[in-house]
Amino acid sequence: MSDLKITGYGDDLTIDDIRLGDLSPSEHEKIEKEKGGQNYKPLEDVVVSHVKDSSTLICRKPSDNDVEAYVEEELIDGLCCYSAVNQGQLNKEIVDAVIHHLQKEKLPTVPRSIRHKYMSAFLLAATSITGMDKVVPKVSGAESWELTFKLCRRWGYQVKQIPKDECIIVGATGNFHGRTLAAVSMSDDPDSRGDFGPFLPGIELVPYNDIDALKKLFEEKGDKIAAYSVEPIQGEAGVIVPDDDYWPEVQKLCKQYNILLAMDEVQTGFGRTGANFAYQLFNVQPDIIGCGKAAGGGILPVSFVAGKKEIIDTLTPGSEGSTFGGYPLASVVGVYAIKTLVDLKLAENARVRGKLLMNHFNDIKNQFPDKIKETRGKGLLTAFEMHDEKHLDGHKVSVQLLNQGVYAKETHHSTVRVAPALTIESWQVDNLAEKLHGVIKAL
Ligand SMILES: Cc1ncc(COP(=O)(O)O)c(C=O)c1O
Repeated sequence: MSDLKITGYGDDLTIDDIRLGDLSPSEHEKIEKEKGGQNYKPLEDVVVSHVKDSSTLICRKPSDNDVEAYVEEELIDGLCCYSAVNQGQLNKEIVDAVIHHLQKEKLPTVPRSIRHKYMSAFLLAATSITGMDKVVPKVSGAESWELTFKLCRRWGYQVKQIPKDECIIVGATGNFHGRTLAAVSMSDDPDSRGDFGPFLPGIELVPYNDIDALKKLFEEKGDKIAAYSVEPIQGEAGVIVPDDDYWPEVQKLCKQYNILLAMDEVQTGFGRTGANFAYQLFNVQPDIIGCGKAAGGGILPVSFVAGKKEIIDTLTPGSEGSTFGGYPLASVVGVYAIKTLVDLKLAENARVRGKLLMNHFNDIKNQFPDKIKETRGKGLLTAFEMHDEKHLDGHKVSVQLLNQGVYAKETHHSTVRVAPALTIESWQVDNLAEKLHGVIKAL
């Protein structure tokens, strides 16, 4: 029998005799290295503690005296949990809704095999905001993408009548859809695939933003292709925005060959790119989308698939499911995540503040054309790419930014993504850009 003892909250949270408030950054690192799987390489010498305001975190850094275990500093959140916190850290309305429902409404936890009243609210809100016929709740972003993948296959067999087990789903090079085996089967990133094979068959990749390659593949194998499954703007690949006419051309081709357009809006959705969903920027209408991240308002993992009736209706009881997908708390959070997206006009904010941030990026690029090669983005999903030179290192920039009180992270060697909360104020954007300017100047 274990005599494990757990007491307290926050800094007083104590596991046996180890109290969180006493740990230095290096002690946290030691515990993580000894007790945790090393699937991330977090920035060194910094531990996030709590929230100051919707765009500012308080973090702990090493102290230079022997008395304190750490010093606390402010950190502008330039990444907001890879776009999961579009509504801002601890969005008051969402937090109030959670507390109210848990404490006053006595929110139950029940699975989907019994109906609960909050599911109706979630389905009404999610179909309304997406304009889709039907919605299926899931938990993580990867799961929502994976469900779109499964639904496209089902539609391929049952509606398009593709011969059994011959269905193809097309993806794009540089894609990122999460870490499940289906997602890494579609990935062309060697780091995510090494020794995880054998991979899922029935997947073909085409170069992103290359309409001729897609056309050629559709001409050759269109009869067996159920869907083109793709991000409207590639986030993890370094904020790659396709040409203006790419999506309309893709949509035309998909219609011509009776192929579904399945879009992964996990990172680009919920106002991030200056529209509620990024496909709206390109005037196209996907047949099915996957959403996650900010669908949970930065509070809870909430994801969902939204699509046309004829696709979602291929689901049958027992063919899909998830214990926590759409359970009462997730439904309440999902509804309030949508409510804040609408009420706070987050897409419009992203457009306005994104323009300001881009202007700053372009000023910095114009001042240092030998360092910055390109600036990219839509709304507040932005990135700058440096020239491919050894000293222009994205990780080094992230570390220097951290020293200046800004959290942003490289996506590849020379690209740094900046994606703050959509509630960010103009002065905070100016502040972030000023620090970035200093870091780039010093490179
Ligand atoms: C486009 C896209 N799809 C799927 C995912 C996976 O989401 P999660 O990490 O919640 O599983 C991500 C995460 O970054 C993403 O950017």
